[in-house]
Amino acid sequence: MCGIVGYLGNKEKTISVLIEGLKTLEYRGYDSAGIAYQKENKIKIIKSVGRLQNLEQKINLEDSILGIGHTRWATHGKPSTTNSHPHQVGSITLVHNGIIENYIELKQSLEKIGYHFQTETDTEVATAYIDYCYKQTKDMIKALKKAKEKLKGSYAFGIINSDEPNTLYAMKKESPLILGRSKDELFLASDPMAISSHTKEICYLKEGSIAKLEKNKITLIEDKETTPTWVTLDIEQTKCNKNGYEHYMLKEIHEQPDVIYNTIMPYLENNLENLHKMPHFSKYQKIQIVACGSAYHTGLVGKWMLETYANIPVEVEIASEYRYKKVFYDKKTLVIVVSQSGETADTLASLRKANKDGIDTLAIVNVITSTIAREAKYVLPVKAGIEIAVATTKAYLAQLALFSLITLKLALEKNQVNEEELEELLVHYQKLPIKIKKMLKELNLKELASKVYKNEDIFFLGRGIDYAICTEASLKLKEISYIHSESYAAGELKHGTISLINKKTPVLSLVTDKYITEKTISNIKEVKARGAYSIVIITQQLDEEADYYDDKIVIPNTHFLLQPILNIIPFQLLAYEIAKLRGCDIDKPKNLAKSVTVE
Ligand code: AGP
Repeated sequence: MCGIVGYLGNKEKTISVLIEGLKTLEYRGYDSAGIAYQKENKIKIIKSVGRLQNLEQKINLEDSILGIGHTRWATHGKPSTTNSHPHQVGSITLVHNGIIENYIELKQSLEKIGYHFQTETDTEVATAYIDYCYKQTKDMIKALKKAKEKLKGSYAFGIINSDEPNTLYAMKKESPLILGRSKDELFLASDPMAISSHTKEICYLKEGSIAKLEKNKITLIEDKETTPTWVTLDIEQTKCNKNGYEHYMLKEIHEQPDVIYNTIMPYLENNLENLHKMPHFSKYQKIQIVACGSAYHTGLVGKWMLETYANIPVEVEIASEYRYKKVFYDKKTLVIVVSQSGETADTLASLRKANKDGIDTLAIVNVITSTIAREAKYVLPVKAGIEIAVATTKAYLAQLALFSLITLKLALEKNQVNEEELEELLVHYQKLPIKIKKMLKELNLKELASKVYKNEDIFFLGRGIDYAICTEASLKLKEISYIHSESYAAGELKHGTISLINKKTPVLSLVTDKYITEKTISNIKEVKARGAYSIVIITQQLDEEADYYDDKIVIPNTHFLLQPILNIIPFQLLAYEIAKLRGCDIDKPKNLAKSVTVE
């Protein structure tokens, strides 16, 4: 989703800092980009639609002491050079992440007093409104305070006022924005990655903050004027390269053995010392898991783990629904929000809703410095490291592992696991990274991919926990290969959707739960009888020679609580191979954003 970089410092560096910063934000998804910089007390703007290369071709590396840059993911108005940022009205030039909800009303009132608009965007209206406030107050800080009272919605702004050379402004509400500093240089960014090659010293702006950046001077206004709190960025969190892999997604899939090791081991060492330090879960009578996309799919697996193994009722909710619906929770409910980025707008709003109602909240996040991590009552980090590919793989897998640990902790609190069972489970945990490594080494799905990649519809079937994994398998395929796919609880297909099964329609069925194997197999036979090309993904233990599949993938067995962690891996690889054969932009699928910071 949109990205912001701002710089004030060395005149020879400004443009390259902006471009470099925008490049690091590319993975978040965008459809146009632009920069604005100070040139002889004027502001020069260069914008372009499409990839950053298009913008770079238009830019000369001129000297400039300050500038702002932006990658835009269209919300209001189509992707076009005109609609892309920076926008300029009067003396104000501005970049924006977020959505101004009352822009139509503001636009109408500004038009009445003579403002004209060139674009379809909410951002141009915000720019005009700030210009209007500045004209009224003749003081930029006062103008921003006045604008803050009027603008509804979410925003992270980087602003230049041509009346005030050598000065940058920033303002933030519900959209991430940070400041950075190094010797004689100041930075502004929506994501620490954008400036991490220049500085590790950053300050997370609080809700409602206004910042004024001048050479070697920052004025920060929260409720009142305050001193910025600087923290040091974790270098590991900022490392990013493909390490010889063709795509980040493939690299991240192959990082999974280490990710699982790093996520689980800290809890298992020293006689489960850190596991016992997790929050006390047995005081809750109900758990609600709230998330979006793949993180929501994690929640479906978490529900199965917690209900099956720890005997607690769990509801899983889509965050964009949860935030606006009547929710039934009380002091005996734990709300768990799951988010790789920790910045997803709907998940954050859901967290805030629960926090506001005094409900205990726990965040499972990958980005530990994120807003969600900072605002939840309890935080359990997954140790996936930075994830660049838009399609999540390693963070999803680490989230599953963490849910298994939460489940174990609760089951232990409730004395539902005897010593022998615990011993057995711990052995399976120890072996998990090695099993994943072996699977990644042995699974070669290129041939299977070549049999199905030309299809425009692919279905996924499973029951119970296998259905939960299928939801993610289906999302993985559609987001990177653009093939239409659906996941179905196997028994549900015949209630309508089976009409879509044609001769050779690929149907991938996951069969790993021995208690319902026969039921799923019956459903597979139903689609096979209607001509489907049946691919079965089955555990070693259940594998048999049979006539209900045309192809099969066999998965190693592990403890039943951990089995879902292995089960998703073939689907990740198959989606990758299919997308590659279709020539898709695997790491940056069209229309998608890595971090969805608008609702
Ligand atoms: C994952 O492959 C997707 N790109 C997407 O569904 C993602 O999981 C969702 O947007 C939630 O993001 P979060 O985990 O950062 O909150």
